[in-house]
Amino acid sequence: MNQLFRTKSIQDILKAGEEKPLHKTLTTRSLIALGIGAIIGTGIFVLTGTAAANHAGPALVLSFILSALGCAFAGLCYAEFASMIPISGSAYTYAYATMGEFIAWIIGWDLILEYLFASSTVAVGWSGYMVSFLRDTLGMRIPEVIASAPLQYDIQTGSWSTTGSMINLPAFLIVLATTIILVKGIKESAFFNNVIVVVKLAVVLLVIGFGAFYVNTENWVPFIPENTGKSGQFGFSGILTGAGVIFFAYIGFDAVSTAAQETIDPKKSMPWGILGSLLLCTILYIAVSLVMTGIVHYSKLNVPAPIALAIDATGASLAWLSPLVKIGAIAGLSSVILVMLMGQPRIFMAMANDGLLPAVFARVHPTFKTPHYSTILTGLAAAVIASLFPVTFLGELVSIGTLLAFVIVCAGVIYLRKTKPDAPRPFRTPLVPWIPGLGILICGAQMMGLGVQNWMRLGIWLAIGLVIYFTYSIRHSKLRKA
Ligand code: ALA
Repeated sequence: MNQLFRTKSIQDILKAGEEKPLHKTLTTRSLIALGIGAIIGTGIFVLTGTAAANHAGPALVLSFILSALGCAFAGLCYAEFASMIPISGSAYTYAYATMGEFIAWIIGWDLILEYLFASSTVAVGWSGYMVSFLRDTLGMRIPEVIASAPLQYDIQTGSWSTTGSMINLPAFLIVLATTIILVKGIKESAFFNNVIVVVKLAVVLLVIGFGAFYVNTENWVPFIPENTGKSGQFGFSGILTGAGVIFFAYIGFDAVSTAAQETIDPKKSMPWGILGSLLLCTILYIAVSLVMTGIVHYSKLNVPAPIALAIDATGASLAWLSPLVKIGAIAGLSSVILVMLMGQPRIFMAMANDGLLPAVFARVHPTFKTPHYSTILTGLAAAVIASLFPVTFLGELVSIGTLLAFVIVCAGVIYLRKTKPDAPRPFRTPLVPWIPGLGILICGAQMMGLGVQNWMRLGIWLAIGLVIYFTYSIRHSKLRKA
């Protein structure tokens, strides 16, 4: 029992990090780019349409603000930890320092839902955009039997069936290609990410800048459409449900914290990287959702590529922007896959360094200085998942897993302020316990909104994790041996 709740001292964690050096090349700017790389993706390019058409209408902008608040509160807590314990394990490491090994294991296991599954989810979205781009722009047809999920999931009944398709090959291949870049090195990966971030930011800014001239303010009236009588369909409850749906759009700012060991001055750069990328993306999301619901009536937005639809609706004058939006989306989704696939092996590495996973997960390549084994294992697992499962199923799992991590990190800040009030904190979350408390409240409410089936899946996932913990990890833990 004692071992379950034994914590690792912050000094020991920092010392262990120094023993396995990674290349320190990242600056504040590359961290912000990394954050934007991970954030802008499926959420804004795909999910906004569904959220506006089915849940919030023009008040989607309020959903974005509400969801951003929960993320900002959690982001402030991440910033405190990331500046205090700049080690690549992210929330897993923070939990080990505060709430002990057992909770750390749970959160480390839970983070697989965020990072590994998110890369698969976004790869499925990437495949959809790529196939339609090749067809519409280059006239190349990829047969559906090799370009869509063989399994399909009915959200209403919760049942599975086969689609007749064999494999989602484009999704499989993009994950493998990204894995190769990641094995090569953090510098190459950061460079690749920077290029993509410029492309996707340019596209988002063009959409806002040119689209704004085609806004018809009548489309914003009524701003909050009347509730249909069913909870979650417009009105106030629609704004809340919309916030739950588009939460996925913000996931990724916390991925910045997994690059702490590769950052030149993490104590200074981490808070800027996490909070800067989150703030920038929030502003862009608010502007995009206003422009989109201003150009076309929200009821028409329930399509897989709502931004492209809005641009097409402006007529011939913005026709040049339409293929650019698709290129921006493809580029945008690629970098989300990259940063998510970069985060997961670094968390595995931290867990293996503590003995909770086999040592092979912590091996660092002698030349590339990357955790190559865990990168390849993560890539293979993510590729297989992406090639089999549909996007809706994966996306909801990612959201509930990520929200749980946010709740634990917020709770960790409150706890550590009580237990170690004097530990050096280069960045301090303001107004503790209020800010972390509100973070727990808003993220918890969004978890509730994700429904019973997702809670059950989260439970099953955590139960598998517990079996591994009690059969392997607890026996191999370095804390036990110490
Ligand atoms: N925020 C990321 C996306 O929307 C995960 O694709």
